[in-house]
Amino acid sequence: MQEFDDLRRTALERVTAAADLEELRELEREVLGKDGPVGRLLASIPALPPESRRETGQRANTLKRELEAAVLERRNAIEEAALEAERSGGSFDPTLPAPKPRRGSLHPITRVTRELEDLFTSMGWHVLDGPEVELERYNFDALNIPRDHPARDTMDTFRCDPEGKLVLRTHTSPGQVRAMERLRPPFRAIVPGKVFRNETVDASHEHTFHQMEGLCVDRDVSVGHLIGTMKTLLRGIFGKDIEVRLRPGYFPFVEPGFELDARCPFCTSGCSVCKQSTWIELLPCGMVHPNVLRAGGIDPEQWTGFAFGLGLSRLTMLRYGIDDVRLLLSGDLRFLEQFA
Ligand code: DAH
Repeated sequence: MQEFDDLRRTALERVTAAADLEELRELEREVLGKDGPVGRLLASIPALPPESRRETGQRANTLKRELEAAVLERRNAIEEAALEAERSGGSFDPTLPAPKPRRGSLHPITRVTRELEDLFTSMGWHVLDGPEVELERYNFDALNIPRDHPARDTMDTFRCDPEGKLVLRTHTSPGQVRAMERLRPPFRAIVPGKVFRNETVDASHEHTFHQMEGLCVDRDVSVGHLIGTMKTLLRGIFGKDIEVRLRPGYFPFVEPGFELDARCPFCTSGCSVCKQSTWIELLPCGMVHPNVLRAGGIDPEQWTGFAFGLGLSRLTMLRYGIDDVRLLLSGDLRFLEQFA
């Protein structure tokens, strides 16, 4: 057994002398491996007389544990020494601040939404929420879009039940009806949120996007009030006065209905954003249809109103020069980190 004792002693000496973690890892593999003392002992067992096999096996196990403990002890000692060297060395400055945790940032749509909310609340408007899974009645019927109306087809509705009573809202306009049910006139409210359409997705179409509805109900509301409010909105977003124009537009829930265009905020004589026309289509709007007021429990003989449907996704893209709508909800950090 002299040979075994020698192997054991050499192995322990080498482990204790290991200079760094890498050397220690090498040694560990070697002394606990097939050709190390433990491996050799185990390999010798089949050739031994049966009565000494058991004892040899036990010895191998004891040695294995002894070597493992030596490796562990040496590893701790090396790590402790490295730490000590770092602490006492010139490069360690305990007064430096700890590394900062990574912070997220607000999504560009959230930023634009909050800015608009601030702007509208400063003018006395409420900010309301509506459900994303909406009753068909609110999404269509109460908005003067009857069952057989073609607008129902053009909206590419996602239906949530076989009867189609529940839909993913295709616009924030149902928020108008819910606002009328919640608030007594006169009132003004915006309803920002997500809307859904079964669109074929490309750089300018998404199945999920954001809109912000606006509704003002008061006595003697005119198109002038609508234009004034939209000009204030533009000043808030682009930081300067911007000329607007109205073109006729058709939506069942407004009469008359308009498309409101704004002078391109980025150029004076045509650019890629306004497609060389100096005008950009900003939003559809109009005077609230009497049927819609009635559906909201408001007497159209006494009250009048204007409404608008702002494309928040589109506005966010305009504002930050984003050219692909799919980026907005991609969750891609390379995109989002640009707004930190
Ligand atoms: N809800 C319409 C849509 O998504 C947009 C709209 C048009 C909203 C006219 C309005 C409005 O409030 O007055 O297509």
